[in-house]
Amino acid sequence: MGTMEPVIKRSKERIKRTAEVFTPEWLVDKMLMSLREADPTLFTDASKTFLEPAAGDGNFLVRILHFKLELNDQSKPVPVREILQSIYGVDLMMDNVLLARKRMLEVVAEFLHISYAEAKEEFGEIVEHNVVCHNALEWDFEDWSPAREQQGLISFENKAFNRSEMVIRYVRQHTVTIPGRAGPFLP
Ligand SMILES: C[S@@+](CC[C@H](N)C(=O)[O-])C[C@H]1O[C@@H](n2cnc3c(N)ncnc32)[C@H](O)[C@@H]1O
Repeated sequence: MGTMEPVIKRSKERIKRTAEVFTPEWLVDKMLMSLREADPTLFTDASKTFLEPAAGDGNFLVRILHFKLELNDQSKPVPVREILQSIYGVDLMMDNVLLARKRMLEVVAEFLHISYAEAKEEFGEIVEHNVVCHNALEWDFEDWSPAREQQGLISFENKAFNRSEMVIRYVRQHTVTIPGRAGPFLP
C-alpha cells in the first residue's frame, strides 16, 4: 500500500506492436456489472474463475479481485487465498505483468489492512503463478503452462493459425460475451 507505481514507457512503436490501449476503470466496472446481471453469483462464489488472456497492467484483474473480495459474505472470514487463486492473466509484456501482480497485491493489502510487503510475503506466489508473461497464443490454458508442440497442440505447418483457432475455441466454450464486445472473462 502506498507504494509508487512504476512508470511504463510505451513508445508508439510498442503500442502499434502490442495494441496497448487500456480500458478505463469506469468501463471495466460497467462491463463486470453487466456480467453480474447475467450471473448474480459471479463475484460471491469464490470458486468461480476468471481469465484475462491479454491482461495489460491488470485493469480487469484488479477490479475482479476487488469485487470478489468486497462482495463476498463479510459475516464469515473472506477466503482471500481462494479468491486470489481464482483469477488468471496472461500478457506479452513483462513490465505489464509485474505491475498487474503488484496492483493485485495492493488490493489484497488494502482489504486485509496489512502492508504491501506482508501481502507479497503471504500471497506473492499465487500472483506469480496466476499472472504470467507469455504469448497467449502459445499458452496452454488447461495446463497453465507453455503450450507443448509435442502434444499436438500446435501444428508445425501453420502454427499461428492453429493456435489462434484453439484459443478462440477455448474462449468461446468458456466465456460470457458482453453484447457489442467479446468478453475475455471465464466465470
Ligand atoms: C488492448 S490492451 C488491453 C489490456 C487490458 N485487457 C485492458 O483492457 O486494460 C492489449 C494487451 O494485450 C497484450 N497482448 C497483445 N498480444 C498479446 C498476445 N499474443 N498474448 C498476450 N498478450 C498480448 C498487450 O501487451 C497489451 O497489454
